[in-house]
Amino acid sequence: MTRDKKLIIGNWKMNLNMHEASLYVHQLSGLVQSRRDVEVVLAPTLLTIQSLSLQVDRRQFKLAAQNLYWRDYGAYTGEVSARQLRGIVDYALIGHSERRHIFNETDKDTRSKIQACIRNQIRPVLCIGETASERANGEATDVLHDQLIGGLANVTSDELEEVVIAYEPVWAIGTGDNALPDDVTKAVVAIRSQIKHLYGATAAKNVCILYGGSVKADSAADYLAINGIDGLLIGGASLDAHAFNDIIQKAHDSAAKAKK
Ligand code: PGA
Repeated sequence: MTRDKKLIIGNWKMNLNMHEASLYVHQLSGLVQSRRDVEVVLAPTLLTIQSLSLQVDRRQFKLAAQNLYWRDYGAYTGEVSARQLRGIVDYALIGHSERRHIFNETDKDTRSKIQACIRNQIRPVLCIGETASERANGEATDVLHDQLIGGLANVTSDELEEVVIAYEPVWAIGTGDNALPDDVTKAVVAIRSQIKHLYGATAAKNVCILYGGSVKADSAADYLAINGIDGLLIGGASLDAHAFNDIIQKAHDSAAKAKK
């Protein structure tokens, strides 16, 4: 994916049952106009993903897994592998802060999962971000650095083209606490400079970076206007089809503006 296209991902988390999910997609598809300059991705629960893959028009929406297991198959009760999701999803969220902080996922897990995605033609969205206390201690840049190195350790330059990075400060997720554009700019500069150090200047320029954390329809344009931000990862506001459509529209406006 090139950086002139905006990427908007709706992370439903553990919300919407089969019926609600299907209704939602029906409603959203009536609202969203397909635009070449915006890629819209829905990340439903694994329960609903298979049936939604039959319902959605992939030119309008792509699907993402919220998580997956890194082994391709075997005795791993309760898990679903990238190999099983291959062909159903185009993206997978990897290392979301709720996975890291509630389910104790480590950088080693994110690394293995990113490898599993790449093996199975799924684009990983590596989520990174500092907690409130790490931020208060001035450790934000170090945390981003560690999570990037930890997740990308086995990724080659060619493979990096498939990886999306989502900066999501943990203290801003689901809290209504908005990160200031200046904070986000600082984080994006740190991420690109780390990518430059690891993969060179071209990779640093080309890598797709999203922002996520309490983004709503009325704040989306401000985040999309930040230099170096290529899209948004939306949690709560993606559960309302109208609010999510407004955000998609903001992304289109922002892409159109950038082209001028
Ligand atoms: P939020 O969630 O928009 O509800 O803060 C974002 C995320 O968890 O990806």
